[in-house]
Amino acid sequence: MLEPSPFDLNDTLAYDAWKAKKLQALATKVADFVVSIEDLGAISQSEQRALKQVLSRHNWVIYKTAADVSLDKAVLRRFGAQVGLSHLDHNLQSEDDGVTALKVVEGDRYIPYTQRPIQWHSDGYYNTSEHTIFGMVLHCATPAAGGGENAVVDHEQLYIYLRDLNPDFIRALSMPRAMTIPANVVDGKEIRPEQSGPVFSNSPRGHLHMRYTARKRNIEWAQDETTQAAVAALEAFLDSDHPAIVRKTLASGEGLLCRNVLHNRSAIEDDPSVPRLLYRLRYFDEITI
Ligand SMILES: [Fe+2]
Repeated sequence: MLEPSPFDLNDTLAYDAWKAKKLQALATKVADFVVSIEDLGAISQSEQRALKQVLSRHNWVIYKTAADVSLDKAVLRRFGAQVGLSHLDHNLQSEDDGVTALKVVEGDRYIPYTQRPIQWHSDGYYNTSEHTIFGMVLHCATPAAGGGENAVVDHEQLYIYLRDLNPDFIRALSMPRAMTIPANVVDGKEIRPEQSGPVFSNSPRGHLHMRYTARKRNIEWAQDETTQAAVAALEAFLDSDHPAIVRKTLASGEGLLCRNVLHNRSAIEDDPSVPRLLYRLRYFDEITI
């Protein structure tokens, strides 16, 4: 028999018990998410326990190490490996080692490389289901001169909000064709095929996975009334001042480790003499601690 899952719409007992715990654990201050790490390349058992405790409650954690603007990227890969993350997504922008250096590039059209704000999303929402991003690290080497604040939210809190509004919203957003990203065609050549998939799904380890972007262009939502209403409710949550939405500007040496929770980023004011530099690592694995 399958383990009871709080994400089973037919199992309200499992859901109610899980929800009570989640709401009790709701944290609203950045300090509740911060864990200090002495050496990212070799975390201690007590540091690992502290990371695990925050992750098990919120699905994301901010780690804090000594500021190091010339950090060796291999240290970040070792850090990932210690929490179960080793299979990196080598996307178009990442360098050969799978670690993407995010900085402002003059004239770049790809938003993460510009000073423009980035809307709510989970990473790799346009990936195929075989290339689902379950884990993510975003490490700050050098913060921007101004701006660059992230808002982060545990998608399980969003799930509770939507399910309590109307369980049919969850049903609609779990359909395989809930959200479609049309094919990427440049000069008549298909660079990436159309990608359809659910917003909510269960990960192999039984966690809730969320695939989402607030972008309006190049996104096709299922046209039925329930999906449309569910997306409107989801947007209203993200636009609200719900206490689960926490804002943080990463300082040098700080980073976000998460189960690919939803996040956004405010506009950046970059100073070319001290350019902003963040590293992003996207993983096909799930965090196992
Ligand atoms: Fe992102």
